[in-house]
Amino acid sequence: MTKIDDCWGRLDALKTDALSRPILSLFSADPDRAARFSARFDGLLLDYAKTAIDAPVRDALLDLTQCAAVEDRREAMFAGDAINETEGRAVLHTALRAPDDAVIKVEGADVMPTVRQTRARMREFAQALRAGQIAGQGGPITDVVNIGIGGSDLGPAMAVLALAPFHDGPRCHFVSNVDAAHIADTLKELDAGRTLVIVASKTFTTTETMTNAATARDWMGQSVSDPGAQFVALSSATAKAVDFGIAEDRVFGFEDWVGGRYSMWGPIGLALMLAVGPDHFDAFLEGAAAMDAHFRAAPLAENLPVLLALTGLWHRQVCGYASRAVLPYDQRLSRLPAYLQQLEMESNGKRVAMDGTDLSRPSGPIVWGEPGTNGQHAFYQLIHQGTDVVPCEFLIAAEGHEPELAHHHRLLVANCLAQSEALMRGRSLEEARAMMREKGLSGAELERQARHRVFPGNRPSVTLAYDRLTPRRLGQIVALYEHRVFVEGVVLGINSFDQWGVELGKELATALQPLLEGGNADAKDGSTQALIRFLT
Ligand code: F6P
Repeated sequence: MTKIDDCWGRLDALKTDALSRPILSLFSADPDRAARFSARFDGLLLDYAKTAIDAPVRDALLDLTQCAAVEDRREAMFAGDAINETEGRAVLHTALRAPDDAVIKVEGADVMPTVRQTRARMREFAQALRAGQIAGQGGPITDVVNIGIGGSDLGPAMAVLALAPFHDGPRCHFVSNVDAAHIADTLKELDAGRTLVIVASKTFTTTETMTNAATARDWMGQSVSDPGAQFVALSSATAKAVDFGIAEDRVFGFEDWVGGRYSMWGPIGLALMLAVGPDHFDAFLEGAAAMDAHFRAAPLAENLPVLLALTGLWHRQVCGYASRAVLPYDQRLSRLPAYLQQLEMESNGKRVAMDGTDLSRPSGPIVWGEPGTNGQHAFYQLIHQGTDVVPCEFLIAAEGHEPELAHHHRLLVANCLAQSEALMRGRSLEEARAMMREKGLSGAELERQARHRVFPGNRPSVTLAYDRLTPRRLGQIVALYEHRVFVEGVVLGINSFDQWGVELGKELATALQPLLEGGNADAKDGSTQALIRFLT
């Protein structure tokens, strides 16, 4: 048995007791539990007191991070070591938000001069476009269409929506799906002469993005004489972008040490910079950089990303809960669950460890969610009374951006807190029977109705509370989740920075295309053949 197996074994042994004890009882046993099982940083409060984690469990989880050498691995990441071992790459998205005076080396060369140069070019471009000095062929740019998918879409789309109160730039639209409906519905509202198209693709080969970009170029070509002049590219493949017809000085590049789903801090964030302006974009980067510094310096027991990761590991790899729900009580974070789906599931949805051996524990969980309070009227039924336990992660701000509608915000907060309380507290059969008695029921009918009204309770949740959703806070929150994924990946021994699992479907889609145009489909399975016949 390795040391890490011992750590998992200790946690398995603690689980039985921990799960048999009502979470609520932990609060009566320890009046300081809320303070002891929470951590603060800057304007954030991470409360994990409403989980079954007690002091011995937390100690064992912290030991797990020691066994997995999380701190060494963390420093290796920040130092630019090639920790993405299957692709032989450094993992340095943190450099994109590092302070201007940072020195970060990859294979001996400081990457920061290029980062600073690109940052300055983005700022200059954004300022000029926002001021109307860079204009379209029909006048100042009013609309920006970001064409990208996965990491080249989800981050900026999520952040642009999240920071809507700070918008004072052009309207931003996001087209990702190869379904023609997406681009057609987006472009039909726009004036081509006053639209900027951003082609966001690290590789500049992704089929969906290239297909949408070509369609946008054709659309623009119908209205302006030089469509390429209203395009910019965000890519690591400058030559391919130039071949597409985008001037080299309109290509904002980044290196292969920036993973797609970790890329919104650099050029992929251009739409956000255009929407909110370079100063707010800088505040967003500063928030993330502050979280990086916290992650590197804070003791593990007070370290927000580490603690959030520990709750994840406890729920998924020890307790065996298959999914986790992300429930932002913040309408403007409504794309956060989708963003985190890619971040977490593409990073830690792996079945083998770095050395190619099978994982001894389940991989990362299924991540899903919707904003509260909407979810309450949809899937919370299952969360409260279904047979599966779904650990929930609530996000809630102390203050909204609509002071004149503060009563809405009070309702939002009340609902958020009520849900985590209800999940923990539940309702016993005795309480349900009393309710039915009050309604005048008796006998078998009382019993039957009462059973439908029982909530098992003891269902864990974590709450991330923040003062207000500002650019800085958003940067911190996203970086918090990135590092959480990192810690979970290191403990599992996974490479969180590759994504081989997306390749097979891409290959088969390419091979299928000719079959939809009459090619011989005999080699396909019966189901696929029948579907081809139906669909063509
Ligand atoms: O298919 C998965 C993926 O490679 C993601 O990892 C990435 O974010 C997305 O596709 C888009 O890739 P690109 O930016 O190269 O177009």
